[in-house]
Amino acid sequence: MDHTRSDFPDGFLFGVATSAYQIEGRQFGGAGPCHWDSFAATPGNVVRAEDGALACDHYHRWEEDLDLIAGLGAEVYRFSTSWARVLPDGVGQPNVEGLDFYDRLVDGMLARGIKPAATLYHWELPQPLADRGGWRNADMPEWFAEFTETVMRRIGDRVWSAAPINEPWCVGWLSHFDGAHAPGLRDIRATARAMHHILKSHGRSIEVMRGLGMKNLGAVCNFEWAEPASDAPEDQAAARRYDAIYNRFFLGGLFKGQYPAEVLEGLEPHLPDGWQDDFSLIGQPLDWLGVNYYTRQRIRHKDGAWPNYEPAGPLLPLTQMGWEIYPDGLRDFLIRNARDYSGDLPIYVTENGMANADTPDQPDSARIDYLNAHLHAVRQAVDAGAPVAGYFVWSLMDNYEWSLGYEKRFGLIHVDFDSLARTPKASYDALARWWRDTPA
Ligand code: NOJ
Repeated sequence: MDHTRSDFPDGFLFGVATSAYQIEGRQFGGAGPCHWDSFAATPGNVVRAEDGALACDHYHRWEEDLDLIAGLGAEVYRFSTSWARVLPDGVGQPNVEGLDFYDRLVDGMLARGIKPAATLYHWELPQPLADRGGWRNADMPEWFAEFTETVMRRIGDRVWSAAPINEPWCVGWLSHFDGAHAPGLRDIRATARAMHHILKSHGRSIEVMRGLGMKNLGAVCNFEWAEPASDAPEDQAAARRYDAIYNRFFLGGLFKGQYPAEVLEGLEPHLPDGWQDDFSLIGQPLDWLGVNYYTRQRIRHKDGAWPNYEPAGPLLPLTQMGWEIYPDGLRDFLIRNARDYSGDLPIYVTENGMANADTPDQPDSARIDYLNAHLHAVRQAVDAGAPVAGYFVWSLMDNYEWSLGYEKRFGLIHVDFDSLARTPKASYDALARWWRDTPA
């Protein structure tokens, strides 16, 4: 690493991130089915039709995993609470075993001196709610409020921070317009409704958590730098549309009480009646903004229906995901999001990392280089005045990479998906040395 801890501001936090469905093992502990189970069971959706039934068996190995987080010297752990585990029917009767699990997990973090950073929803929508239309259903904000209250009445007194919904763009656009994630729809009307209901649900969830007296509440959005493939005005406009849908729609709702014109151009006819009246609910005051960042996308114009764009193909070196390595985009988003949306609020890089075709006996030096370059970008943003307050690596360990199954390895720790053995990689050792040798 080219940096020392003292290159970052006082109190700057370093952590790691995971999510429930990707690591826990859905089959254990009385969790109900979720829409990812049925999406994965439908041929063609997921590589080898893999699902999260077993995943990393974190449900049973959570103590070993927390020890590994502590061994890394991470100060904060971003985890999520599975809706399907806590409320197998989506609403109604809670699964006490599920709540007990998160209770133990939070206490386990605190016992090891790790701050618990909770995300309520990281994508495992209970199947009974998916059957009722899921995010398209206007009742979602109330269902989500019930879920929030059920979880936070149990652990809300001990979590260090909380965010309602991980990556609204993925929950809305990727899942309802691109069809790449559950429920796998390609439907503009479903997309518009889902995107708006996600933000309303976020707002209701923040209201509920404030009502419980919780502090340090934020929103976690994902960002992809959009680069026009050429100077041609139509490519520039296509990149602006991509940027608006991906990077500015949710921030617009959260911080400005409006959606970008480039998005309304396509989605407005499909938004639910009265959508303009929902921004006071959506725009609940927040304590921080979470930025998940991995890559950039080169975009060009495409003839046809809105949004008239397509990827123009990568130019830079790629990760195992086929994603361009472009650290400058992280720096530029940290600066731009603070300037245009979140102002002085602390920004956390809530996810950053790379997939690499790792084996346990080969050092993952590509990941060390990736993390190093992105930490450099964070420092540049801090130097430019962006209020960046922490950085989380995605991910603690190799896990279920959604429609790409178990092949894409994002972990600082290698997981053998037969034996479930955990083996720290060279990047884990590098970070552990760096995070421990020069404590903040
Ligand atoms: C975003 C998501 O939050 C996480 O679930 C996923 O595994 C990583 N990025 C990598 O794609």
